[in-house]
Amino acid sequence: MNKKTKIAGLVGNPVDHSWSHVMHNAAFDALNINAAYLKFKVDKLEEFIDYFRSLNIMGFSVTIPHKMEAMKYLDKIDNKAKKIGAVNTIVARNNKLIGCNTDCDGAVKALKSKTSLNRKNAVILGAGGSARALAYGLSENGANVTILNRTAEKAKSIAEDFECGYGPLKDLKNIKYDILINTTPVGMHPNADISPIPKNLINKGSVVFDIVFNPYKTKLLEFAEKNGCATIHGIEMLINGNALQFELWTGKNAPVQLMRKKVMDCMKNAGNKN
Ligand SMILES: NC(=O)c1ccc[n+]([C@@H]2O[C@H](COP(=O)([O-])OP(=O)(O)OC[C@H]3O[C@@H](n4cnc5c(N)ncnc54)[C@H](OP(=O)(O)O)[C@@H]3O)[C@@H](O)[C@H]2O)c1
Repeated sequence: MNKKTKIAGLVGNPVDHSWSHVMHNAAFDALNINAAYLKFKVDKLEEFIDYFRSLNIMGFSVTIPHKMEAMKYLDKIDNKAKKIGAVNTIVARNNKLIGCNTDCDGAVKALKSKTSLNRKNAVILGAGGSARALAYGLSENGANVTILNRTAEKAKSIAEDFECGYGPLKDLKNIKYDILINTTPVGMHPNADISPIPKNLINKGSVVFDIVFNPYKTKLLEFAEKNGCATIHGIEMLINGNALQFELWTGKNAPVQLMRKKVMDCMKNAGNKN
């Protein structure tokens, strides 16, 4: 690093579990871009953004729990992030900070690799920033979406924005779905032994997508495999989303295969089984 090195990074809490630094730093190296991607464990988001906006920054990834709050402190929000109501990417351009959302396209691409979405019944567990991105992406692609959340009021607010059904988590037993998506952090490292729902509530033959990416195979995906479901790992959304972030920050095509290889190698070294 030197005086010209641009700073990018992940802003959230927790951030330890993330693998994004592995992908972005490998991509910067491969394309000879003088930048470094760091992890910032941040509680006071406004102070963080105020401080960093005057430095030599390229942009940030935003994660749990700041995706909605971040919108308040930026200069501009792009159309998609505005419609979704959550920002997972900040781009520094001409001394302005622009909020974008790559979660939506990253997740939709991962889903479309396993299933069509038009007219499918999809259930989203959770009603945070990622759930908003998924609800928007699925609705735009013609799926019938139901949001189930621990706090049903939050599910209601997303449902009103995207014309979805909603309810508390216990409603799952009454719903016939083709696609089930977990957007809660339940099952995430270091609490990898738990699933957001019991095995008997996973419909046989459905497609199950867990956006949690550490561990690689979550308890929910393990149950889904045992029930004969097609599964989608959270790492697919992360790779797709990070590639889009890289392109927004640098204006260059992301070396996706390299990013995939680096993150998969890291996960294997950390003891994750494929
Ligand atoms: N694969 C990827 O690329 C990718 C991208 C984005 C996020 N993620 C992962 O997705 C997860 C959620 O991120 P987010 O930014 O959407 O978080 P968020 O905005 O904080 O939302 C979390 C949601 O999960 C629910 N929840 C939290 N703990 C719960 C529990 N113990 N039981 C039941 N529900 C619970 C919350 O319910 P309440 O409303 O009741 O609080 C909330 O609706 C994180 O693990 C994150 O790492 C992965």
